[in-house]
Amino acid sequence: MPHTQYAPGQFLFGGDYNPEQWSRETWAEDIELMRRARVNTVTIGVFSWAMLEPREGEYDAGWLDDVISGLDAAGIGFFLATPTASPPPWFTVAHPDALPIRADGTAVLHGSRDTYAISAPAYREAARRIARYLGERYGTHPGLRGWHIHNEYGTVDYGPHAARAFREWLRAKYGSLEALNTAWYTAFWSQRYGDWDEILPPLQTQYLHNPAQLVDFRRFNSDEMLAAYSEQRAEIHAAGSTAPMTTNFMLPTWNFLDQWSWSAKQEVVSIDHYLDTDGPDGEAHVAYGSDLTRSWAGGPWVLMEQNATGIRVGEQTLTKQPDRMIRNSLGYIARGSQSSLFFQWRASAAGSELWHGALVPHVGGDSQAFEAVVELGEMLEKIAEVADPPVDGVIVESQVAVVWDAEGWWSLETPHLPNDAITYSDEVRAVHRALWRGGYAVDFVPPGADVSKYRMLVVPALYAITAATADWLEDYVRAGGQLVVTFATGLADENQRIVSGGYPGMIRDLLGIRSEQIFPRANGDTVPLSNGMIGGSWTELLHAESADVVARYDAGPLRGSPAITSRELGEGTATYVSTKLEQESLDRLFSHLTSLSGVEPVFPESRAFGVEAVRRRGARGHYLFLLHHGERPVQVHGNGVDLITGEADTILLVPGQAAVVREGGRSWTITESTR
Ligand code: GLA
Repeated sequence: MPHTQYAPGQFLFGGDYNPEQWSRETWAEDIELMRRARVNTVTIGVFSWAMLEPREGEYDAGWLDDVISGLDAAGIGFFLATPTASPPPWFTVAHPDALPIRADGTAVLHGSRDTYAISAPAYREAARRIARYLGERYGTHPGLRGWHIHNEYGTVDYGPHAARAFREWLRAKYGSLEALNTAWYTAFWSQRYGDWDEILPPLQTQYLHNPAQLVDFRRFNSDEMLAAYSEQRAEIHAAGSTAPMTTNFMLPTWNFLDQWSWSAKQEVVSIDHYLDTDGPDGEAHVAYGSDLTRSWAGGPWVLMEQNATGIRVGEQTLTKQPDRMIRNSLGYIARGSQSSLFFQWRASAAGSELWHGALVPHVGGDSQAFEAVVELGEMLEKIAEVADPPVDGVIVESQVAVVWDAEGWWSLETPHLPNDAITYSDEVRAVHRALWRGGYAVDFVPPGADVSKYRMLVVPALYAITAATADWLEDYVRAGGQLVVTFATGLADENQRIVSGGYPGMIRDLLGIRSEQIFPRANGDTVPLSNGMIGGSWTELLHAESADVVARYDAGPLRGSPAITSRELGEGTATYVSTKLEQESLDRLFSHLTSLSGVEPVFPESRAFGVEAVRRRGARGHYLFLLHHGERPVQVHGNGVDLITGEADTILLVPGQAAVVREGGRSWTITESTR
């Protein structure tokens, strides 16, 4: 995680700004509208490579100088992106070998974006050059808030350059072919390698891939992209710029990077966050993305992109209403974001994303959508003091941690598992959702983190783990922690090798159980448990050896066998959930387990009214964010001032509204409002 607490002194408000798509008259209107909305930050240059370097080695940044002067004159700061996610057509023509090859062996040509092979020397060199150029030209500009390196690293190449770099990475990891053959279990299907050059990226093959090879390739790609990022970083530093650096991670669906190791190389961690569900689950999703990013960052972070007006669900873009846009923005901020930035400032008139939402819609500033933007800008100024992070301690206090491990996602994506429909992010989200619905603050941690301060540690579906992780979990329990492990955890080691003798081999003794057989059920099937909960598509024939049985399967072939167990060990307990519980059952389980371990919701009574409560700590006090997702007006009573309305002690919230209360005390009650 970064070593600095990112503190820009205000909430950054604005978004991706692509003036190269517009005339200079529009630039002038942009500045006027930005002023109206109190925009203070834009991200420029994200896809400007062809405009900045129209021919190889020939630069033309006069237009960008003018854009920056215009912003400067209006007091608007900027993140400057390196444009390396979108090499221009001349690059492809000059370096056809630097185009990415897909897993099926086909080449990807230019005509869209992200058409680069990350390991191609020509690409890396061109990326370093343009980064250096921008570093030298703008690196000490007073309006520069920070560097936005690349955009959403995640293009995977399977071509010859990748093969070479992958082999080098494997040599460094394993040292000898013998070690690789052992780790990859190449005795299976005659895959034994006799020469490093025989090893390939996992290109399309006849049938299933080797799972150890797949996961190593994912690890390699994360490291390789990090190396490319670090090269640009070094060029910018060498150019004399000390502005903070970030690259925008993409949530929710991207899993190309190990965010923990990447975060250590950024002064500020940022994400792009696009809701993938409408309704209340969208709010849970805001919390999920925010909690993850704050945890990766180890403190304040930046929301680099969200959609102002739309939620893309399947083939449709559903409307994000203005009140929701504002509540979502405050939801990110409540959990440590120092910004509300959007993709993008002005809706494109043409091009591939012409129907994407924007702060300035096609119709222009005279619109309901832009009025909401102005309202948000005013609000962010009113709550500006919240942006000062606490002098010591964390920005959001949590008593519960959930393990997040990119490798967990990668290993659960290897083929031919008992139920391939089980996905890591769904399982982690289900646990987070249960905790969010209970009103608890949640942190994420990597395996091996210091978890001594957490009363509860949850490990959802972490299929492959190391012996060190197993020891770490045991130490946590012995020292008095409450560990909750859900199904599909600890079945394999880091080489995707099953630990035999009973599941889950890596942590069987810790949990005091032995699972004899995994009994997947058809997706959508349910099975009742003896405590009224409902299990689903994953069940196990489980023996509680030194554990107590909390619930048994109550129907089907496993009727009477343990389904949920709990073992006391040292000062703590370790609970195992052997089935994929339905969400309502998971909610119930966590409400029970949290009360056992003394974990407290932020504002217990508010949930019944549909009011989400989050407490953010700051230099000048504690701030209670109240986000009203419910349907009836409420009044919240206590000691504090709503920075948005100025109301003190009794705060009225109508549905859709939010309050940010500087707290005088921590005791709050809530009632339905008759006003
Ligand atoms: C990503 C990209 C943007 C844009 C948006 C659209 O987050 O960074 O350039 O394509 O998606 O949602």
